[in-house]
Amino acid sequence: MKVAVLGAAGGIGQALSLLLKNHLPAGTTLALYDVAPVTPGVAVDLSHIPTGIEVTGYAGDNIEPALVDADVVMISAGVARKPGMDRADLFNTNAGIVRSLIEHCVKHCPKACIGLITNPVNTTVAIAAEVLKKAGVYDKNKLFGVTTLDVIRSETFVANLKGKAPEAMSVTVIGGHSGVTILPLLSQIKEVNFDDAEIQALTTRIQNAGTEVVEAKDGGGSATLSMGQAACRFCLSLLKGLRGEKNIVECAYVEGSGEHTVFFAQPVVLGQQGVAEILSYGSLSAFEKTSLEAMLSTLKADIQKGIDFVK
Ligand code: NAD
Ligand code: LMR
Repeated sequence: MKVAVLGAAGGIGQALSLLLKNHLPAGTTLALYDVAPVTPGVAVDLSHIPTGIEVTGYAGDNIEPALVDADVVMISAGVARKPGMDRADLFNTNAGIVRSLIEHCVKHCPKACIGLITNPVNTTVAIAAEVLKKAGVYDKNKLFGVTTLDVIRSETFVANLKGKAPEAMSVTVIGGHSGVTILPLLSQIKEVNFDDAEIQALTTRIQNAGTEVVEAKDGGGSATLSMGQAACRFCLSLLKGLRGEKNIVECAYVEGSGEHTVFFAQPVVLGQQGVAEILSYGSLSAFEKTSLEAMLSTLKADIQKGIDFVK
């Protein structure tokens, strides 16, 4: 199998590439691409780590060799937030970057699974889908908005609050990836109980966790290391599914039944062709039902913005 990371010289790209170099199954090829000239050097640097993963790096106009024969393309290319910005403020720069990179995927690896990390995810996934549709190669089972960071944050924050082991915690997060569109289903966690105030406070913290990092980094960017970890978890699960392992489940922002919005983050079974099955997210508490209703107009508008951008 071959995994390509686009935006590989950036904060997320380097963290993700390091983790993949250490955790991909032996024999996997890892191809790095970024506009930044340092990228082949990042690949050389990683290649000195003693694992059975071949790493190559490409920069500037030389994207083709990174993409040819890729089974999975992870995209974190684009600008990150600074304090005071919303994820939607990244649209003007990142929409064009995503469109152009997806056009390269169309040309060089039209059957690859694509994991989009670049913000605003609610919108960039819609952009990618439209570009793929225009080219006649869209497969809804192979396009993913990576929302795993919301999941690992939820697992960490719940475990810390309740004195549990974070590694053993499992939380479903539905909706999208910004503000009120991030909805952790805390009522479904079996191991712990919350009072109403805890539910409200935890939900708000999870929804604002990206901003928490942006403010703590004080102008130096947004989450990179935790995102590298989240993207690595998602990518390894995707590869397990592609290789035929059973019962591989992750939450991701995908085109589902359209019950709420065209794209919606929800638990999916990953299989040999990408999404094998969309799972029910289960029953919601009254608080979660209200939160879900309240997010839908925002999520719909975010998606429409991406569709309009390409059309
Ligand atoms: P960064 O600035 O550190 O890295 C971005 C990289 O993209 C840079 O190396 C840059 O050279 C590269 N790049 C720019 N245009 C490119 C192009 N056309 N082709 C290839 N590479 C290109 O930023 P970062 O911290 O790595 O964040 C990247 C993106 O990920 C941002 O949009 C950020 O908002 C988003 N993000 C998403 C999540 C999530 O949960 N989905 C979490 C954190 C950050
Ligand atoms: C995050 O959730 O950390 C990312 O989406 C980056 C951001 O801008 O918040």
